[in-house]
Amino acid sequence: MADIRRLLPASGIRAIFNIAGEMERKGEKVLHLEIGRPDWKLPPGVEDAAVDALRGGFVHYIANRGLLELREAIARDIKRRTGRDYNPESEIILTIGGSEAVCMAMLAMIGPGDEVIVPLPSWPHYSPIVEMAGGRPVYVHGRAEDGFAYIPEDFRAAITDRTRMIVLSNPNNPTGTVQKRENLKEIVRLALEKDILILADEVYQDFVFEGEHIPIASLVEDKSRLIIVNSFSKSYAMTGWRIGWTASDARISDAMNRIHQYLTVCGVSFAQKGAVGLLDDDRLPHYLAEMKEEFRRRYEVWRNAFNGLDYVTLVPPGGAFYIFPDIRIPDMNARTFCEKCLREIRVAIVPGDVFGDRYDRCVRISYGRNLETQTEAAARLVEYIRKFV
Ligand SMILES: Cc1ncc(COP(=O)(O)O)c(C=O)c1O
Repeated sequence: MADIRRLLPASGIRAIFNIAGEMERKGEKVLHLEIGRPDWKLPPGVEDAAVDALRGGFVHYIANRGLLELREAIARDIKRRTGRDYNPESEIILTIGGSEAVCMAMLAMIGPGDEVIVPLPSWPHYSPIVEMAGGRPVYVHGRAEDGFAYIPEDFRAAITDRTRMIVLSNPNNPTGTVQKRENLKEIVRLALEKDILILADEVYQDFVFEGEHIPIASLVEDKSRLIIVNSFSKSYAMTGWRIGWTASDARISDAMNRIHQYLTVCGVSFAQKGAVGLLDDDRLPHYLAEMKEEFRRRYEVWRNAFNGLDYVTLVPPGGAFYIFPDIRIPDMNARTFCEKCLREIRVAIVPGDVFGDRYDRCVRISYGRNLETQTEAAARLVEYIRKFV
């Protein structure tokens, strides 16, 4: 029990969410900018298809790997985006969100003594799972002055004889950084040269405002060196449906499926049924374009609010729906700042050290909620920060 507490700390994001919840139970109105939830309408067709499935009694266990029709649709989607072929029968697994996918991949592939390179700042799930698997996370620290870009030299320096896996998470949570092709290419080259597996977490692939998203699969020909993790949560505003997936070669996929089978047996039947038609729907490009435009507007609110504001430095993100500004109010670290913001102006944001120890002067702001929420929260935050100037 004591070991679990040490290895798996309570989520820092949920901690803020829980305090906000307590305040709301007392009748206070909190603006939620702490959770990575994109508020947007559902894509066309999915709701009806899921309700039809539910009403039609499609409510039982399904194959461990999930509905074959949906795996086939995912294989077509990967082909369109990356040019690579994945066999839906043996190389794709539908999971309970990208969260289970990452967990399953690490538990299957990492063992005691293995090192996993985790670039920081990043989604706080990777390291605890590496440790759960008996491995050791080795950190590569992104720097604001480089725009939080992945620097191949940093990865090279972190590689040892024990390195088993490199995590590449692009676009990034919490910085919104979209990694450049040349850096990714060089890191992939290093990994392949040293026989290191790459875990590519691309759940924010459709939220790119500057530059382009380079799917790692387009850079890696040998499928045995790569595990792709993805999800319906962010691109399609379906966080509660819990549909994620992995694509990898059959040998790795079989190992992961064995973990998946004991962890969850299978995903949610009617949710998966709802998603079957989505990826091939010809209305999807319009849906995604509209959503991207809206998220760009939400980001613009923050860019304008922080422009020229004392104490605040913002590295412009290229995508996702997060910003990770450095807020340097004298004698106040991000933890204290976030707690004060929540209690005094009822704006919930997350301290940067949740995403990596060194980032204790940054905060993560998620602009997933609607434009009105962003406008109100930005006004409150700017006024609050000005008080300290
Ligand atoms: C980088 C990253 N990967 C994966 C996930 C998992 O999301 P889900 O389990 O909802 O698919 C998240 C969620 O915030 C994330 O930020």
